[in-house]
Amino acid sequence: MKTELNERIERIDKALDAYLPERDNPQTIIYTAMRYSLFAGGKRLRPILMLETAKMCGGDEKAVIPFACAMEMIHTYSLIHDDLPAMDNDNLRRGMPTSHIKFGEATAILAGDALLNKAFEIVSEAETDNAELALKAVSELAKSSGTEGMIGGQVIDMESEGKDISLDELRYLHLLKTGAIIRSSCRIGAILSGASEAEISAVDGFAANLGVAFQIQDDILDVEGSEEELGKPIGSDAEQDKNTYVKLVGLERSKELAAEYSAKAKAALEIFGERADFLLRLTDYLIDRKS
Ligand code: IPE
Ligand code: IPE
Ligand code: MG
Ligand code: MG
Ligand code: MG
Repeated sequence: MKTELNERIERIDKALDAYLPERDNPQTIIYTAMRYSLFAGGKRLRPILMLETAKMCGGDEKAVIPFACAMEMIHTYSLIHDDLPAMDNDNLRRGMPTSHIKFGEATAILAGDALLNKAFEIVSEAETDNAELALKAVSELAKSSGTEGMIGGQVIDMESEGKDISLDELRYLHLLKTGAIIRSSCRIGAILSGASEAEISAVDGFAANLGVAFQIQDDILDVEGSEEELGKPIGSDAEQDKNTYVKLVGLERSKELAAEYSAKAKAALEIFGERADFLLRLTDYLIDRKS
């Protein structure tokens, strides 16, 4: 699996590099800061999910690459802002000092903003054979990263710091802050490939469950992971008095729930038969991840 993932990461990184070159102009620092976080060594999970969902639905990779890169830029922007002193106040990300530690808060905020703008610049200029599907994909990208998606989740995450919330409320929070763009990554892959409503709905069921499983795993790793492997600080959630699965139900139950959501995710792909092979193996791989 590792080799298969690395091969995909390489392709995505090449495309990202082409979309975001260094620039020699008075505002050059913004390009340096954007590239610093973008190429710090992320897993590229969301672009990989998008490309593989498209492949599973019989789509063409060329149409998906701009969206896959845009999604990784939006994800990276969300991480830069998530680490800011006003949010999680973390100093390590992807194994490197966080953007605000390296460049100062003002540049970090602007680098996040700029990655978000760049994402929409890329997709609005992407070549397409089907403008209607492309527009639908742009809408998915915008909505899932907005107030009914990732930003909505981040708001609840912040507002519920230090408070007791129910397991249902926590699931909703995870579904938004992490699930929303994992979900839209897969949906966009399916939409751009001309998938049927039934296929899009199956993909959606897969990704929504995978998103929750992925964030539960992230909560677990914040407790029992290693900073070196993870590339980000351990114990950040407890320090900020965050609501996590580990806090609400303990480590053992969290692991069981992560496995349950993963199983639900895989079951949703049944209609694709053997074509789901890669995504099924990826889901299993993620459950045991250490980073
Ligand atoms: C981290 O995402 C933030 C969460 C939503 C859990 P990833 O674990 O995908 O981080 P990178 O992209 O590999 O750095
Ligand atoms: C962040 O969740 C999710 C985002 C939308 C960025 P976390 O705050 O748990 O992510 P990490 O652990 O800092 O990567
Ligand atoms: Mg956070
Ligand atoms: Mg954080
Ligand atoms: Mg976390």
